[in-house]
Amino acid sequence: MGLFLVFNLAILISFCSVSCEINVQETQTFIIRVQHDLKPSQFSTLEEWYTSTLKSLQSKYPIPFQPANSTDNIIHVYKTVFHGFSATLTRAHAWELETRPEILGVFPDNIRKIQTTRTPHFLGLDTSKAFYGLMNESDYGSDVIIGLLDSGIWPEHPSFNDDDMDPIPARWKGECQEGKQFPKTTCNKKLIGARYFSAGYERSISQGIKNDDFKSARDPIGHGTHTASTAAGRAVKNASCLGFASGQAKGIAPKARIAVYKVCWFEGCLDSDILAGFDSAVKDGVDILSVSLGGIGPSPYWDDVLAIGAFGAMERGVLVSASAGNFGPESESVTNIAPWLTTVGASTVDRTFAADLSLGDGTVIIGSSLYNGTRLSNLYPLIYAGNASSFGVSTCLPGSLDAGRVQGKIVVCDDEDNGPVEKGLVVRDAGGVGVVVANGIGEDLLAYPYLNPGLAVTMSAREKIFEYLTTDPNPQATMAFRGTQIGVKPAPVVAAFSSRGPNILSMNVLKPDLIAPGLNILAAWPNNISMSDVLEDPRRTEFNIISGTSMSCPHVSGIAALLKGVHRDWSPAMIKSALMTTAYTHDHDGKPLLDNKDLNVTANPWSMGAGHVDPMKAVDPGLVYNITVDDYIDFLCASGLTSKQIKTVTKRAVECSKAKKSNPWDLNYPAISVVFNTSKPSHLEVVVTRTMTNVIDAACNYTVVVSNPKGVIVTVDPQQLVFGKIGEQKSYVVKISAKSVVIQAGKMLSRFGQLSWKDGSHNVTSPIVVTWI
Ligand SMILES: *[C@@H]1O[C@H](CO)[C@@H](O)[C@H](O)[C@H]1NC(C)=O
Ligand SMILES: *[C@@H]1O[C@H](CO)[C@@H](O)[C@H](O)[C@H]1NC(C)=O
Ligand SMILES: *[C@@H]1O[C@H](CO)[C@@H](O)[C@H](O)[C@H]1NC(C)=O
Ligand SMILES: *[C@@H]1O[C@H](CO)[C@@H](O)[C@H](O)[C@H]1NC(C)=O
Ligand SMILES: *[C@@H]1O[C@H](CO)[C@@H](O)[C@H](O)[C@H]1NC(C)=O
Ligand SMILES: *[C@@H]1O[C@H](CO)[C@@H](O)[C@H](O)[C@H]1NC(C)=O
Ligand SMILES: *[C@@H]1O[C@H](CO)[C@@H](O)[C@H](O)[C@H]1NC(C)=O
Ligand SMILES: *[C@@H]1O[C@H](CO)[C@@H](O)[C@H](O)[C@H]1NC(C)=O
Ligand SMILES: *[C@@H]1O[C@H](CO)[C@@H](O)[C@H](O)[C@H]1NC(C)=O
Ligand SMILES: *[C@@H]1O[C@H](CO)[C@@H](O)[C@H](O)[C@H]1NC(C)=O
Ligand SMILES: *[C@@H]1O[C@H](CO)[C@@H](O)[C@H](O)[C@H]1NC(C)=O
Repeated sequence: MGLFLVFNLAILISFCSVSCEINVQETQTFIIRVQHDLKPSQFSTLEEWYTSTLKSLQSKYPIPFQPANSTDNIIHVYKTVFHGFSATLTRAHAWELETRPEILGVFPDNIRKIQTTRTPHFLGLDTSKAFYGLMNESDYGSDVIIGLLDSGIWPEHPSFNDDDMDPIPARWKGECQEGKQFPKTTCNKKLIGARYFSAGYERSISQGIKNDDFKSARDPIGHGTHTASTAAGRAVKNASCLGFASGQAKGIAPKARIAVYKVCWFEGCLDSDILAGFDSAVKDGVDILSVSLGGIGPSPYWDDVLAIGAFGAMERGVLVSASAGNFGPESESVTNIAPWLTTVGASTVDRTFAADLSLGDGTVIIGSSLYNGTRLSNLYPLIYAGNASSFGVSTCLPGSLDAGRVQGKIVVCDDEDNGPVEKGLVVRDAGGVGVVVANGIGEDLLAYPYLNPGLAVTMSAREKIFEYLTTDPNPQATMAFRGTQIGVKPAPVVAAFSSRGPNILSMNVLKPDLIAPGLNILAAWPNNISMSDVLEDPRRTEFNIISGTSMSCPHVSGIAALLKGVHRDWSPAMIKSALMTTAYTHDHDGKPLLDNKDLNVTANPWSMGAGHVDPMKAVDPGLVYNITVDDYIDFLCASGLTSKQIKTVTKRAVECSKAKKSNPWDLNYPAISVVFNTSKPSHLEVVVTRTMTNVIDAACNYTVVVSNPKGVIVTVDPQQLVFGKIGEQKSYVVKISAKSVVIQAGKMLSRFGQLSWKDGSHNVTSPIVVTWI
């Protein structure tokens, strides 16, 4: 099982490409991109043609050729966001297919991992009158359909009740697919669609679908239930998790409709199934797609089903919001980086679940815990797991602790390898009193539901504890659990685990796009599955607190649904522009937003994108940067993709015209990111063009305000733009001249500024990023 949560940074399975031995007879599932307009007229359906194509395969390779039962081999046929099919093939077959003129590409199937009482309030959704009025106008998104590609849903949960909801929008074409413990009658006016996609998984994972994995849209993991309720859960009174975070739990767009596409199973999510989920969701008529799935590193757009599926969705006007990944704070760790995706990083909210670790010398270290059992009242000896393990293992893996050395002590375990609740049990089973889980990657305070006394501390706290452990001859500690604290400062802060830019595929496209709450988020949970990383954990709960960019993505999906409800005619790029140009880069006290990567580190666009989402401002952005399908195609051409690669993404024949000479930095993105090559000192100037569209029904007069990145001069022409009416477009150019800087070979240096168009009531702000390589 793999959630895209922070306690489970499971190693992503990657397929052999070049370096490993290849057995040509081995079968595997493949996704085949077909130029479907080449279908010979003798075939009346695509299915017939694809079947016949497979039957006609004659391997050129010296292997005993087994005529395949070709009908059986086809897994899914894709018609909406992608043209082609998936099938089980030998590698030899796959190679042969690739040589056929009608085949644009044959890609091995990959496996991916799936990566709130307080968040609507934190985001200001409950408080602003103006916003309340606008949301009322869209009836809290009641005409908007949010699709989720995830691990399914627990449909009986009170967050998905349909009391007082209006009839399902007439345009909806989806269905409630029958399956295990999921009769057709399961759906209602809230959960309007549910489908599952398992054929690729069943072909690739030898044990197939286990009994308790429910061959239906039912969620056996919890992740899909949590994300769906975060985006669009109904209000549930008296929600809490073990008594923590109690209050009303409500999703961001409580009246939006939910349609679930279960593509993830215990061992992960197959690309062939994900693509089928995209295809169905877009055909069914979702408006927003929420995809909290892990990318497998930054693959090229033409080799990434998430990028391909999302392109097809975008063409149909569907905004796709995706998680940035939990691979921070490493730079270049951001995934889901196609420019037509809205890529969401994670931040903290002003709530913690405080637990103190008091050391024998009087030092009090603030940690975090959801432990709600018997309290500790005495000091106990404190020991580092690495010093209590015969194997020198410091992470409290099962069987690694030496009972003789742990008995009666509090044990400090490094936060890697296994989940924190399990570490606690390993300590308990070795006779220990409690566990301290020491974060190795930054200042995040992650709350976990320990079964025995336990808490997590930050990286800097770990250093303090180590100093104490290594200097005090008789180290001791105790723990105190202080429960839910709100109004914590500073907030928001970028989560250390949130994946970072730059986007190595396209330095000119800022990623992540923005950040949203993703740390210790309370949302719905199936009431009969484990609430922790320990499957045998007997505790059951209707709400659970978990963390990850998987949690931040559905916040943005919900906000996008609210915007779509108010502005039905906005394209995905317009919605994303509104979200980005109104995002804020300061905390709630007006100080620069910090980054949990370390103490006192200020966030920058590589960690927070354009900033933290601000739904109230996003609903009225003033101006937007729209992007058309042709603009994206120009971008792909300018990025040097071949026409075949472009066609794999766009499904249409593309002639990259040499005459047009567009530059990748001219994509009308709501952020500007340019690169200077220090080996070419004569090329330290670049000109960037942008076009804005007026989205308010009034004439207005905007003036630009620029803050230069250090070492750079930015000039904007013109400095003033006057818009006459709604829909009017105006362009400007930005000249960026950089000083020559000296950098170490192989390193890069980035500096940050911003550009803001202001008319007195709107600030349309874009980050400017300049990188020297
Ligand atoms: C192919 O599969 C179908 C459906 O499972 C089966 O009815 C048929 O007998 C198979 N054909 C061959 C040649 O194995
Ligand atoms: C919401 O809109 C309805 C009519 O569209 C109006 O009667 C009601 O007063 C509005 N409520 C709020 C809180 O604005
Ligand atoms: C919620 O909790 C309060 C206090 O614990 C109680 O008075 C109230 O009846 C509860 N409401 C519901 C709907 O359970
Ligand atoms: C701890 O959690 C359990 C299970 O939800 C709950 O019944 C109990 O009341 C909680 N205890 C405290 C002290 O909040
Ligand atoms: C581990 O044990 C060694 C030897 O007793 C000691 O010097 C060291 O300080 C201990 N380290 C920690 C982190 O407790
Ligand atoms: C959870 O509920 C489902 C459906 O009600 C049931 O089939 C399943 O056995 C339950 N699982 C557990 C672990 O209780
Ligand atoms: C971080 O900032 C705090 C408060 O401004 C200060 O007390 C502390 O020394 C700083 N720490 C570091 C490592 O700079
Ligand atoms: C925005 O772009 C879309 C194409 O993606 C286009 O259909 C739409 O008309 C544009 N809207 C405006 C206001 O320019
Ligand atoms: C920078 O320019 C030099 C000299 O033209 C070239 O060799 C090098 O590949 C360029 N570096 C990058 C990263 O483009
Ligand atoms: C726009 O505002 C500027 C000053 O803020 C003013 O000089 C200019 O005349 C205005 N233009 C129009 C068309 O209103
Ligand atoms: C725009 O920015 C200015 C500061 O430059 C600020 O005073 C003002 O409140 C902002 N307005 C909006 C609508 O965000």
